[in-house]
Amino acid sequence: MEQLKFGVVGAAGRGSGFFTAITCNSRARLEALCDVNEDGLAATAAQVGVTKTYVDYERMMDEAGIDVVIIGTPMPFHTPMAIAALQRGIHVMSEVPAAVSLEEAHDLVLAAKKSRAQYMMAENYCYMRPNVLVRAIARAGLFGEMYFAEGEYLHELKELNEITKWRRKWQTGINGNTYPTHSLGPLLQWMGQRVVSVLCTGAGHHYRDPRGDEYENEDSTTVLCRTDRGGLIQLRLDMLSNRPHNMTYYSLQGTTGCYEAPRGLGDREKIWLQGRCEGMEWMPLEDLAEEFLPEEWLRPSAEQLEAGHGGGDYLEVQDFIRAILDGTPPPTGIHEAMDMTLPGLVSQQSITQGGVWLDVPDSRLW
Ligand SMILES: NC(=O)c1ccc[n+]([C@@H]2O[C@H](COP(=O)([O-])OP(=O)(O)OC[C@H]3O[C@@H](n4cnc5c(N)ncnc54)[C@H](O)[C@@H]3O)[C@@H](O)[C@H]2O)c1
Repeated sequence: MEQLKFGVVGAAGRGSGFFTAITCNSRARLEALCDVNEDGLAATAAQVGVTKTYVDYERMMDEAGIDVVIIGTPMPFHTPMAIAALQRGIHVMSEVPAAVSLEEAHDLVLAAKKSRAQYMMAENYCYMRPNVLVRAIARAGLFGEMYFAEGEYLHELKELNEITKWRRKWQTGINGNTYPTHSLGPLLQWMGQRVVSVLCTGAGHHYRDPRGDEYENEDSTTVLCRTDRGGLIQLRLDMLSNRPHNMTYYSLQGTTGCYEAPRGLGDREKIWLQGRCEGMEWMPLEDLAEEFLPEEWLRPSAEQLEAGHGGGDYLEVQDFIRAILDGTPPPTGIHEAMDMTLPGLVSQQSITQGGVWLDVPDSRLW
């Protein structure tokens, strides 16, 4: 059986979250690790028994003989590291978002188009069980025409900002939506629509960092997204307000059904579908699992469960392995990655221009 050799960069941090999904899969092998944190790298490598370790990314790509690289480094490294791999014919699975500027995004798309290697963005919220189930119900047509959706990423990270310092610049140091893909990704998959324009506005500044500086990002920002079929999507990002987290709030409205994710305090995923629910009463989303959830989610294998998140991590890596070895397109390939990333980048321009509507480019035309 053909086995893909994986390298992981950012291996002492986020990258390590992919290890089990690789080692559990008989068509993958964890071959090499890279991190600039030498002590962390040595400890991580010892834990997983990998002997090829590198502090230099280019050296790992040139010397380790890898087929695939998983990029788990901070946001500003995603695009340059992805392009460097694609230019070498090494397949790329990148952490989110795909890019931190429109120029970078453009360069990445051109590099992906030119390369014989494949690109996939690791948008793992698309691999959460409730989101997969809603997607299946949406694709079966039960929501009717889908015209409104909400996604919220509420993750207070003022302390984390001071530990992983890149966040202070790339997540809270820029105004607008700097981290859109977890909120937007599942919604785009449900609706099957693309965002064509955005407007972004914010709720002002109420906190300062430990140096007394105001955060450049407003505490709560809202992006309104117009889709190519006239739908409206509302995204809220808040990384600064004092409040409990909720990184997975979503809602969906169609002509014959609607869905709402939990907001805390024992709330559950709930759905209303015309003809299936009593009058206008909610039903628990989970009641539709047996009927709609794909088999691999209903009865996950032992390997899947070992990889974490109910099997989602395993399936995400498996999708990329299948894309490379079997030729099935990756669900979050380069253009889907752009569909999820570009609205955030354009929102940053919108908010600095006073909240005007701006067009979001279609990377398929680049
Ligand atoms: N998908 C998710 O659910 C999720 C969760 C957390 C983080 N993330 C993303 O993962 C990325 C990493 O986040 P993090 O919190 O682990 O950050 P981090 O600061 O802990 O960095 C991750 C690792 O990358 C290493 N690194 C930094 N620069 C490097 C370089 N030039 N070459 C090699 N290694 C380098 C660091 O030493 C660290 O071990 C971010 O882009 C973040 O947005 C995604």
